[in-house]
Amino acid sequence: MAETLALAHEASREERYEALSTRWAALLGAESNRMANLANTAAVLKEAFDWHWVGFYLVDAYRDELVLGPFQGPLACTRLHHGRGVCAAAWDTASVQVVPDVRKFDGHVACSSLTESELVIPIVVADLVVSVLDIDSSTRGDVSVADVKGLAPLVRFLENNWNSWE
Ligand code: SME
Repeated sequence: MAETLALAHEASREERYEALSTRWAALLGAESNRMANLANTAAVLKEAFDWHWVGFYLVDAYRDELVLGPFQGPLACTRLHHGRGVCAAAWDTASVQVVPDVRKFDGHVACSSLTESELVIPIVVADLVVSVLDIDSSTRGDVSVADVKGLAPLVRFLENNWNSWE
């Protein structure tokens, strides 16, 4: 990967999303290995937004669980189950979960006690959730629909390319 991120330090979060929105193909498009691309996606998001934890859980269809995928941040829970936690809610309902205060989310799975807010976006391919993108912030109220909007080009890119990656 010859690309470097080089986002201006002073850029707002919105400007960072804007700068990234057209760059996903350049950052990831040359590689056809899915895990490598998810790993670099986590790295890019960590570098751009300095989230406490950012990464992917992958649907393990055989065990009917979510299993930890590429991520950046502290040690995390390796397996998540239906009906428990924010990631499972996104998986079970195929819908985005914006949680400004994790204490108010019944059943939140606290992999890290430092997480205060969380955003989980399902990756949906051919009508099936194949993965979730999980973002944890150590600041309460730090995630909103603006982040969902900012991440939409990435999510579209992942969904469109998922099955062409080995
Ligand atoms: N908090 C998540 C578990 C995953 S960690 O945040 C990395 C949940 O409630 O599903």
